[in-house]
Amino acid sequence: MEKSVTYFEKPGESNTDELIKLVKSRLEGSNIKYIAIASVSGESALKLDDVIDGVKIINVTHHAGFRDKNNLEISEDKRVELEKRGILTFVGSHALSGVGRGISNKFGGVTPVEIIAASFRMFSQGIKVCAEISIMLADAGLIPVGEEIIAIGGNAHGLDSAAILTPANMTNVFDMKIHEIIAMPRP
Ligand SMILES: Cc1cc2nc3c(=O)[nH]c(=O)nc-3n(C[C@H](O)[C@H](O)[C@H](O)COP(=O)(O)O)c2cc1C
Repeated sequence: MEKSVTYFEKPGESNTDELIKLVKSRLEGSNIKYIAIASVSGESALKLDDVIDGVKIINVTHHAGFRDKNNLEISEDKRVELEKRGILTFVGSHALSGVGRGISNKFGGVTPVEIIAASFRMFSQGIKVCAEISIMLADAGLIPVGEEIIAIGGNAHGLDSAAILTPANMTNVFDMKIHEIIAMPRP
């Protein structure tokens, strides 16, 4: 089987539009029904929805308090705008840091789940995010396990990485299968 991978010269937001085009073309002729996207502000999720039809898009934003106490980084307006387009925004504990980060922040060292995150970051920040949001959405019952989906992430802002993967719940995290990298920045 031959498939193409696009490698961006550098990570980050400047790759967003191209990444969305690549996802659209990979969807053509596929059986994929779900796209999981990490869009903290909702901006990238709106851009994706402008271009893509026929699949269910689910957005993930940072957990409340990620930057400021009691604060979400997506505005209510953006969240409602996405909902009007049929796109839910999920907010919850981050699967690949979670309470582990609270422990290492307080006591030092590293927890096993943070080592999983660091291992995915050897590909790119965005590929780590693809894996992470797929666990979060599977555990929320918003995407199926045992079925291939597309997951999209980036480097702090915008999008630069996408993968076709089969999600798993956190209790069976190593059942996750990463089938294809659609695009990522070349480290
Ligand atoms: C749950 C979650 C975890 C994220 N983790 C990281 C991360 O570890 N490193 C990183 O560079 N970006 C991370 N991001 C940012 C995303 O990869 C992406 O660049 C961002 O959500 C795009 O948001 P925007 O549409 O507001 O630009 C994370 C986003 C979410 C929602």
